[in-house]
Amino acid sequence: MSSSIVSALEDLEAVDKSSLLDNMAERRKALQLARKLCVQLESPMDTIFRISWTDPAYNAAMKACVDLKVLDILQSRQGFVPVADLSEATGADASLLHRLLRHLAAMGAVDEQQPDSYRATALSNAMLRNEINGGLDFWFDVGTPVFSGMPSFLAKSGYRSQPVDEAGIWKAAKNTNSTFYEYMSEHPREMASFASHMSGYTSDRGVWTEIYPLERLLKGADDSSSLIVDKQYGFQPGRLVVQDLPLVIEQAKLKVDKNVTLMGHDLFTAQPVKGARAYFLHCVLHDFTDERAIDILNTLKPAFKPGYSKLILNECVIPSVGANPLTTGLDLIMMGCFGSRERSQVEWEALLERAGFRIVSVWTDTTVAWDSIIEAELV
Ligand SMILES: C[S@@+](CC[C@H](N)C(=O)[O-])C[C@H]1O[C@@H](n2cnc3c(N)ncnc32)[C@H](O)[C@@H]1O
Repeated sequence: MSSSIVSALEDLEAVDKSSLLDNMAERRKALQLARKLCVQLESPMDTIFRISWTDPAYNAAMKACVDLKVLDILQSRQGFVPVADLSEATGADASLLHRLLRHLAAMGAVDEQQPDSYRATALSNAMLRNEINGGLDFWFDVGTPVFSGMPSFLAKSGYRSQPVDEAGIWKAAKNTNSTFYEYMSEHPREMASFASHMSGYTSDRGVWTEIYPLERLLKGADDSSSLIVDKQYGFQPGRLVVQDLPLVIEQAKLKVDKNVTLMGHDLFTAQPVKGARAYFLHCVLHDFTDERAIDILNTLKPAFKPGYSKLILNECVIPSVGANPLTTGLDLIMMGCFGSRERSQVEWEALLERAGFRIVSVWTDTTVAWDSIIEAELV
């Protein structure tokens, strides 16, 4: 029996999977099944080894190789490159490079060949793109210290889901008095890796217009009013306004289509664009506790044209069972960075009700994206 499982897996491994790469729904389904299979095959000690040992070592080795530009050299050279050449090009010890690269090879990120030679893969080449390696940098700056400090902070603060200082875990982890976004504005390198990561993270989460029927906004839209969205979808000039903190808008200016109006704006101040068809908050409210999210919505409300303006939220809606681990993990990241949370449908309903909104409908399609789209209107 056991050998038939192994041979079935060997057959599966040999199947060409390139067509899956263009089919997000199928790829996500396959990945979910593969993860379930790994859980069934791992012993408890395997799990400890993976979460505490092989994965953190993979993360560290990848970061060091990206920083050293070893992966750039592998990409620029055809075929296998001996570590001696990599050592000469980077100035790093050949023995160190060998140790880092053999772990990357063991994890499947580069190919290896005797003696001590390594070759680029599609994955190692992808690590050269800013929106991918920005994530690596960002999680070193944020995820690693936040998760290292989280258990002891929770113990010290009496295991409260909502500690007295909502930014407590973050402040302790980073040894700072600044909140997350204050810290980012004071640290340009971290801010840049956060911005790169946000673009990679957003592009991999699925596009909201594939889940939400956009006709609901376009039909009945008054031509003279604005549509507020924080991503670009080819609307006419002036009709699509993207807002974020002024510093973020400054950085975005280089990249955004000329049809989009960029506007620095603080969510805790009056909304200057009145009567828009839609006010779209893309992964914004999850950064805030209920109290602060309600402040944001109360501040936004006066801009609404009753019966016309819609509130559209692109956010995780965590189901009561069977949640995607990306969303449950993100929930703990939100707790660590902001004292906030990813919310269930019941939690969204309660939050929006407290702010004077009613949910019209929630669109979820897990084959396209791990977020949902919530449409709400003023009560
Ligand atoms: C998780 S990010 C999402 C970014 C973007 N909406 C996206 O989905 O790619 C949250 C965003 O909220 C912005 N933000 C945080 N505090 C803000 C405030 N007080 N006013 C306006 N934007 C704010 C941050 O700069 C950041 O870009």
